[in-house]
Amino acid sequence: MKNQKPQIDFPTETVEEGKVRIIVPKLSAFVEKPSEYAPSKAPVFYNPVMELNRDLAVLAIQAYQKMVKRELFICEPLAGCGVRGIRFAKEVKGVRKVVINDINEKAYQLAKYNIQMNRLEKRVTVKNEDANLLLARHSAPRKRFDVIDIDPFGSPVPFLDSAIRAIKNGGLLALTATDMAPLCGVHPKACIRKYGGKPLRTEYCHELAVRLLIGCLATTAAKYEMGIKVLFSHSTNHYIRVYATVKHGAIKADESLKQMGYILHCFNCFHRETIKNPFVGYLRLKCPECGSRMDFAGPLWLKDIFNKDFCEKMLTESEHKKIRNKFRVYKTLTLAKEEADAPITYYVIERICDKLGLPTISIKKVYEALKNDGFEVSLTHFNSKGLRTNAPTSAVVKLLQKLYVEIRSFK
Ligand SMILES: C[S@@+](CC[C@H](N)C(=O)[O-])C[C@H]1O[C@@H](n2cnc3c(N)ncnc32)[C@H](O)[C@@H]1O
Ligand SMILES: [Zn+2]
Repeated sequence: MKNQKPQIDFPTETVEEGKVRIIVPKLSAFVEKPSEYAPSKAPVFYNPVMELNRDLAVLAIQAYQKMVKRELFICEPLAGCGVRGIRFAKEVKGVRKVVINDINEKAYQLAKYNIQMNRLEKRVTVKNEDANLLLARHSAPRKRFDVIDIDPFGSPVPFLDSAIRAIKNGGLLALTATDMAPLCGVHPKACIRKYGGKPLRTEYCHELAVRLLIGCLATTAAKYEMGIKVLFSHSTNHYIRVYATVKHGAIKADESLKQMGYILHCFNCFHRETIKNPFVGYLRLKCPECGSRMDFAGPLWLKDIFNKDFCEKMLTESEHKKIRNKFRVYKTLTLAKEEADAPITYYVIERICDKLGLPTISIKKVYEALKNDGFEVSLTHFNSKGLRTNAPTSAVVKLLQKLYVEIRSFK
């Protein structure tokens, strides 16, 4: 088919990402002040900052394809200019077909042109309709997708039910959420409404955000008698992202629901604990370390949020793919692999030092001291100043005080 000029009446430019070249809105033409968020001002959505998100998506889908060893049928129902779905078709080996879609007519036109520009007309189809309608039309058993990538403005929740119904047994769901104000506890009522769990404004709120989103996925899937297994998740810049497979079966659904519960947090002394089982009639809210009244987050997902083998597989894939953000990909995946088996929630050392009136002690020193004392310890991709450990809060506090005395006497 001959390339048709896209029917667009706004400034555009050509960019390269991964192995594709695409036409996108010229973002600089749509901002009046540097503080303005350019992607939402343009008539078609394109955010260059999300390249890392798309890089990791390419790697996750490739790792998944190698796991299931079959040709994939992929859907990206909220596609903007089409860059993500086009990259899947071009860069992931073993993709049979990609369906991309956007409700915005201009996005549809631009995506269509981008598909032609990359000569992918045979493998990528573009639609222009409501995402839930498209997914609903693919909910019959033979029409379902192997992979669905939901990358919306804000919350993926409005598309969860239809995505779950349109995924094959064992298929892969990828979800982005950018509504961090509700998920991180700035607007707790909005979080309870959308995700069915209470957030908390703690230093590890990004981990809570991931667990709230997965919790919502698990309870939504359970309605359709499906269970989930989380393969990978990450929190980067202004968003969180989750990759999970969905399997049919009431028992699988019950197993998933058993992984739900609460995280209790003491704002006085930093103590935290978990309570498995979302349907307990009461919550013990007295902190066992300092006696203060604790607050709670949940119900949310208490089981794994990373799978070590899957992270390893993604790392292997990253060695062969054309990716601009290689170092950040490597760092995120290596840390995720390390924290896969580590305890739930992390301590931000400078926050505890602040509260104790101590100068900040280097994370490296605390890491080594905890290890020397026989505790499990790992870094976390969620926060460069965070540490996961099985040491109780009182032990962390004592250790920081001891380290401070040592550092002071050394000076
Ligand atoms: C964040 S952008 C997608 C970015 C894209 N996934 C990427 O990686 O570049 C969200 C897109 O969803 C589209 N959208 C919003 N509501 C929709 C709906 N109900 N059905 C289909 N598309 C929708 C918007 O027009 C917008 O282009
Ligand atoms: Zn306490």
